Amino acid sequence: MKVISEIREISNTLSRLKSSNNTIGLIPTMGALHKGHISLVEKSIAENDITVVSIFVNPTQFDKQEDLTNYPITIEKDLELLEKSGCDFVFTPKANEIYDNNISSQKFLFDGLEQQMEGKHRAGHFDGVGTIVKKFFLITMPNIAYFGEKDFQQLQIIKKLVELEKLDIKIIGCPIHREEDGLAMSSRNTRLTDQQRKDAPFIYKTLKEAQNKIAKHSFTEINSWVSEQFKKHKTLNLEYFEIAEEDTLKTAIKRENNKKYRAFIAVFADKIRLIDNISL
Ligand code: PAF
Repeated sequence: MKVISEIREISNTLSRLKSSNNTIGLIPTMGALHKGHISLVEKSIAENDITVVSIFVNPTQFDKQEDLTNYPITIEKDLELLEKSGCDFVFTPKANEIYDNNISSQKFLFDGLEQQMEGKHRAGHFDGVGTIVKKFFLITMPNIAYFGEKDFQQLQIIKKLVELEKLDIKIIGCPIHREEDGLAMSSRNTRLTDQQRKDAPFIYKTLKEAQNKIAKHSFTEINSWVSEQFKKHKTLNLEYFEIAEEDTLKTAIKRENNKKYRAFIAVFADKIRLIDNISL
């Protein structure tokens, strides 16, 4: 496994490999890797000749400086995990080089996907994600890029980015990896206190119960039921719960035939923000 920080080096190395008929799989990450990330790496290794993981805590996608400052960094452990997994290249760019000394986002319109859910609560977040993912795509030119479904809105936005920018890259969404008690794996989980960690599986438990209610209850009833559950909770604060249509991510009021729906949730455990979703 080779770790490369310079843009020119990774770009030249990968374009050489691609021109000798190797396919490239890319997994963009912000590090603090867990089993969920490693499952994406394993999928890429199975489907491509060369697997590249980028590790970069992208400043432009954080709406709160505090969240950026506290983002977990575990680079040595990450590299060990990646080495064991069989990854070929790790790209670890420096902020000044990747942003050409101008740390700011391009503005994007993703057909309204950016205005839903996370877009309403995290100003500029998807401009930051779009900016960095586009840069990674142009530098590495992968055949396939892999993203987890925990960030389902991000996944849909990246599919739209590739379509709008006419990039010849296949985007694959991979199922959420969960801890045994159901908590969706996330780099942010490492910041939870013992008590918050004990309480956090309540998020998935509520999503599962909401899923079970779907046959007998309207979307509005389920929304109210979920808010009630969190009003009673002592440590977890609900930011939003929404049932949305999978393709447009627009809030759904009632079920229509031939459409797929998902329930999305964002919760605060003190200042730590956790998100999750479930197919309905
Ligand atoms: O999902 C993430 O970890 C980040 O949003 C991504 C896609 C690596 C962009 O910084």
